[in-house]
Amino acid sequence: MSAIRLLLVFFAGASLGAILISAAPGLRPASQNAAPPAGPAPADSRIPVELSAAGRQHIRQQMIRYLEGMSVLSDAIRYSDFETIKAVSEDLGTPDPTSSGIVKDAPEGFRQISKAMRSDFASLGLAAEPDKAAELEDTFGAILLKCSSCHGSYRADSPSP
Ligand code: HEC
Repeated sequence: MSAIRLLLVFFAGASLGAILISAAPGLRPASQNAAPPAGPAPADSRIPVELSAAGRQHIRQQMIRYLEGMSVLSDAIRYSDFETIKAVSEDLGTPDPTSSGIVKDAPEGFRQISKAMRSDFASLGLAAEPDKAAELEDTFGAILLKCSSCHGSYRADSPSP
C-alpha cells in the first residue's frame, strides 16, 4: 500500500467532512450551532492524566494517526489487502519515543493499555495471511477495545499549577 492510498483516504475523508458540514446545518460542529448549556456540565469521573500543552498536542496528533489508521485497516481487512495491513500495523505498533516520554509519569494502567494496544497491532500484522480472516477481525476488535477502554477510564488534564 502505498502512501498514495493513505493520502487518498485522507483527502476523501477531509472533503467528505467539508461537504457534510456545508450541506447539513445539523452536522456543524457543536460550537457553531449549540444552544448554551442548560446547567453545570456533569462531573467527569475519569482519571485525569496530566499533560503539558505541548505533550497534549503531540498525543492528539498521534491519536488522529490511530483513527486514520483504523479506517485504512478496516478497509484493508475487508479486501484482504495483506500488504496494507502489515504496513499500517507496523507503523502504529512501533513505540514512539516522544509519546513514551510524554506519558512516562501517567498512571500505570494508562501505560499498560497503550502497551497492550501496540502489541495488538503487532499481532494484527502477523495475522495478515490468507485464511486468517477471523483472527484479523478479532484482533481489530481487540484494538478498538483498547481505544475505548483508555478513553473511558482516562482524560487528559493540564498540570496543576
Ligand atoms: C492509553 C490511552 C489511549 C489509547 C489506548 C487511545 N487513546 Fe485516543 N486519546 C487519549 C487521550 C489521553 C486523548 C486526549 C488528548 C487531549 O485531549 O489532550 C485522546 C484523544 C483521542 C482523539 C481526539 C484527538 C483530538 O484531536 O483531540 C481521538 C480521535 C482518539 N484519541 C482516537 C483513538 C483511537 C482510534 C484509538 C485506538 C486505535 C485511541 N485513541 C487509543 C488516550 C488514548
